[in-house]
Amino acid sequence: MKKIIWITGAGSGIGKALAIAYGKQGNTIILSGRKKEQLEEISTYIDHSFVLPLDVSQEDQITKATQTVEKKYNHIDVLINNAGISQRSLTHEITNDVGRTLMEVNFFGSIHLTKAVLPIMMKVNRGTIVAMSSAAGKFGFPLRSYYSASKHAIHGFYESLSLELKDTNIKVTVVCPGRIQTDISKNALNGEGQTHDKMDQGQLNGIPVDQCANQIIRGIAKSKSEIYIGGKEIILIYIKRFFPALFRFIAQRVDPE
Ligand SMILES: NC(=O)c1ccc[n+]([C@@H]2O[C@H](COP(=O)([O-])OP(=O)(O)OC[C@H]3O[C@@H](n4cnc5c(N)ncnc54)[C@H](OP(=O)(O)O)[C@@H]3O)[C@@H](O)[C@H]2O)c1
Repeated sequence: MKKIIWITGAGSGIGKALAIAYGKQGNTIILSGRKKEQLEEISTYIDHSFVLPLDVSQEDQITKATQTVEKKYNHIDVLINNAGISQRSLTHEITNDVGRTLMEVNFFGSIHLTKAVLPIMMKVNRGTIVAMSSAAGKFGFPLRSYYSASKHAIHGFYESLSLELKDTNIKVTVVCPGRIQTDISKNALNGEGQTHDKMDQGQLNGIPVDQCANQIIRGIAKSKSEIYIGGKEIILIYIKRFFPALFRFIAQRVDPE
């Protein structure tokens, strides 16, 4: 059955790849992000799409956008809270304002949109909510203190939500990518809030974004509660879980860029 799928951060990277791949299956894709022109360009690759600019850090925009979507489509089958910004700054060099921005986008942006969409899904007792975390949502990493905290917070929120929804047909999936070839390191913020503007080696060595999107789509179809995607860095999630001291030994030696 064709679905109504709302993706934030759909203008680039993983969100764009998901939008195009889901679009190819004949689904209707609602494309959100801050840059309207980027979204309009992506909409040309998709037969059924709707461009809906949205800054997820603005609660009033979330309310308005959700009303627009409900009026137009009546329902949302899949919400993918993909919008996010990374960090490239030591903790003592990042201002509180920049840190707050990372939390506003990565955490509050995601949960506020979920809370706005949830009643629509509850009316028909059906839907899937996807939250984008990161391997850094499973362990801390240098230069990522706020980013990692925002992604750890995602796990606490969405695990609680999924337990609350246990007797419903509303599924919750949290995605933890490792290193994926996108511009995330270029778009990451430094301590003063400027973009890092550098394609990190780790990013370049990541897995292709289309491969990542396909794995996410397969995981969502199976209603997985968590999806891990990436290269050998994913092993660190298990090392952290079972051998925390070994994790520290390794993580201290990995190049954070
Ligand atoms: N690439 C990786 O290795 C990796 C690893 C782990 C997790 N992730 C997560 O995957 C998600 C997508 O990242 P990506 O790799 O595809 O990087 P990306 O290309 O930089 O994509 C991030 C997207 O988020 C959007 N965005 C940023 N701030 C926003 C806001 N306030 N409101 C709405 N949209 C906003 C950006 O669009 P606009 O600027 O137009 O708003 C952009 O399209 C993020 O949540 C990231 O944390 C990525």
